[in-house]
Amino acid sequence: MAIQRDCQIVGKEKLIDGIYKISLKSKELAELSKPGNFLEIKVSDSLETFLRRPISIYNIDKENGVVEFIFQVKGKGTEILSERKVGEMLNVLGPLGNGTFSVKPYRRVAIIGGGIGIYPLHELAKNLKDSEINTYLGFRNKDLVTLEDEFEELSDKLVISTDDGSYKEKGFAIDFMKKDCSKEKFDRIYACGPLPMLRAVQAFAIENEIPAELSLEERMGCGIGACVGCAVLTKDSDGNQKYKYVCQHGPVFNAKEVII
Ligand SMILES: Cc1cc2nc3c(=O)[nH]c(=O)nc-3n(C[C@H](O)[C@H](O)[C@H](O)COP(=O)(O)OP(=O)(O)OC[C@H]3O[C@@H](n4cnc5c(N)ncnc54)[C@H](O)[C@@H]3O)c2cc1C
Ligand code: FES
Repeated sequence: MAIQRDCQIVGKEKLIDGIYKISLKSKELAELSKPGNFLEIKVSDSLETFLRRPISIYNIDKENGVVEFIFQVKGKGTEILSERKVGEMLNVLGPLGNGTFSVKPYRRVAIIGGGIGIYPLHELAKNLKDSEINTYLGFRNKDLVTLEDEFEELSDKLVISTDDGSYKEKGFAIDFMKKDCSKEKFDRIYACGPLPMLRAVQAFAIENEIPAELSLEERMGCGIGACVGCAVLTKDSDGNQKYKYVCQHGPVFNAKEVII
C-alpha cells in the first residue's frame, strides 16, 4: 500500500561530490517499506519539475520511523532536491513497486550493483542476515565510490572494482562474481545497476541456472501504472510476450521474465 505524505527531512549528508543522503521521518512509511521499494518524490512546486522523481529506498529504520534514500544529482529535479534542508517537509508517494527483492534464508547469495544501482541493495543486504553474502560493487572510478564501509559490515565478502582501476580491483563487477561462482555456485543473484551490467548478469544467471532478481531503473512518469512510460517487455514460461510496468510490476523482476 502506498501513501502520500509530507515528511520532515531529519538528516541530510553529502556523501561525495554530487551524491547526497536524505533521511525522512515517517513511522508509517518505515512500517510499510520493503527492500526494493522506491519513492516518488515531489522535489518542488515548480512547473519545471512537475513530475515526481523516483528514488530507491536505501535504508529503513522501523524502530525510529526513518526512511533514507541516496541520490546523484543528474538534472534539475535532483539538483533542487540536493538544495533541500533539514527541517523542511518533502512530499513523497510510496512505498512504490510491487515487485520487491525476495528475502529468504538462501545459503549463499551474490549481490551485484553498479553506480547509483547500489543503493537499494543496502536494505536488501540488511535483510539477508541468514545467508552468506558476497557483494560486488562496480564504479567508473575512485571518485564515485560510496558505501564501502556499510557494505563491508553487511557482507561476508566485498569486492569493489573500478572500470579504470583507480581504486581496488580493475574491471567489471560481474567478472569478479563469475570467478567466485566458478569456485562455488551461488543460490541466488540480486542485481541493480546500468543496463549492460543487468544484461550480463541475466545471461550468466540463465546459462548457469541460478535464480536471479534484477531491479530496473527505467525512466518514469507517474510511478503508479497510469502513463505507460516505464513499459518493459516480458515473457512467461511458454514464451508469450507482454508489456509490464516497472513502477507497478517491478522494479524487481525475475531475470528469466524480462527482455532488456
Ligand atoms: C525505480 C527507480 C529507482 C531509482 N533510484 C535511484 C536512486 O536510488 N538514486 C539515484 O540517484 N537515482 C535513482 N533513480 C534515477 C533517478 O530517478 C533520476 O536520476 C532522476 O529522476 C533524474 O531527475 P532530474 O530531474 O535530476 O534529471 P532530468 O532532468 O529528468 O534528467 C537528467 C538526465 O538524467 C537522465 N535520466 C533521468 N532519469 C533517468 C533514469 N531513470 N535512468 C537513466 N537516466 C535517467 C535523463 O535522460 C537526462 O540525461 C531511480 C530511477 C528509478 C526509475
Ligand atoms: S511510470 Fe507511469 S506507468 Fe510506470
